[in-house]
Amino acid sequence: MVQLQTPQAATSAAPAQTIMQMLVSGWLSKAICVAAQLGIADLLKKGGQHYEVLATYANADPRSLYRLLRALSSFGIFAETEAGCFQLTPLADCLRADAPNSLYHLALMMGSPWYQQAWDLLLQNIQTGETAFEKAAGMPVLEYFDRHPTDLRIFQGAMANLNSRLTSQLFAEYDFSEFRQIVDVGGGHGVLLTTILRAYPEAKGILFDLPIVIAHNPTIIASKGWQERYKSVGGDFFEAVPSGADAYILKNILHDFNDSQALTILKNCRQAIAPNGKLLIMEAIVAPENEFDPTKMLDLQMLVMVGGGERTAAEYESLLQGADFELTKIFPTSFGFKIIEAIPV
Ligand SMILES: C[S@@+](CC[C@H](N)C(=O)[O-])C[C@H]1O[C@@H](n2cnc3c(N)ncnc32)[C@H](O)[C@@H]1O
Repeated sequence: MVQLQTPQAATSAAPAQTIMQMLVSGWLSKAICVAAQLGIADLLKKGGQHYEVLATYANADPRSLYRLLRALSSFGIFAETEAGCFQLTPLADCLRADAPNSLYHLALMMGSPWYQQAWDLLLQNIQTGETAFEKAAGMPVLEYFDRHPTDLRIFQGAMANLNSRLTSQLFAEYDFSEFRQIVDVGGGHGVLLTTILRAYPEAKGILFDLPIVIAHNPTIIASKGWQERYKSVGGDFFEAVPSGADAYILKNILHDFNDSQALTILKNCRQAIAPNGKLLIMEAIVAPENEFDPTKMLDLQMLVMVGGGERTAAEYESLLQGADFELTKIFPTSFGFKIIEAIPV
């Protein structure tokens, strides 16, 4: 029987078996996405259900749904308790929309036709260097989201899922206490910035993002103290960013862009930053050579979606130099990204 294993375990298996496991892992991903699209985990929130009942609520073919859940249960995602009844497991719980560690929106995004269509053109992307998403959708991803607000919401939900995993552990890994004014450049819905401001009551923050994102930004905290400490500003980081702050955060921004675009953003941060300020780039960093590193797959994701990419530490250092910043230190975190700290020179 074909089983999926960790890369470490897989390398001890016979080569053909290992490749087989890697090939079929796409089936599992697809099955998880479909369970999310059908909302199965939320239907099981109050307790186990027979698949026929689930099929009625989820508007699915009963026997096909049974086969989907049986397959997922073999990986510990759902559990079949008695003939035909399924219940949540800790893994399935992550597919509930409102679970604290939810990845529901990420699964919705990965199952969406616009997302799948880009990956379907990976071959052409590799052959031509042309961004698969643009080929599939006929326009760059930001323009696509502008025209498809429902898909934009799914994407933002996926980003929120990833950010909700941020905890105060971040502050044990990087000390933000020296900063008085923090600008989160391309900060999305402000999850990171508000998490930092909660932990550091002395700090003030500006959430900076495209006007359309700021316009749809929910009022995060209405209490008086927060209104004084937290501002959101709409703009274009290719033009300028709010000036005078002592910390500029770029989290998951530079990997969306090619080097020349990334350099423009960095130069705008350089122009805005206070002389004693720090730039904090939060991105995954590509590990050297053959080392196993999920960032290398994330890099492919950036290739097909936006034409950007993940970078090595040396590549970040050289980009920073080009914008008159000096890379001072790289801090590891428990959140899948590193904090690349740089100062203006
Ligand atoms: C991948 S998301 C990252 C969001 C957030 N920093 C995070 O890590 O969750 C990229 C963000 O950059 C914003 N953005 C894209 N182009 C921009 C531009 N030209 N000016 C300002 N913000 C922009 C997007 O709206 C989005 O919120």
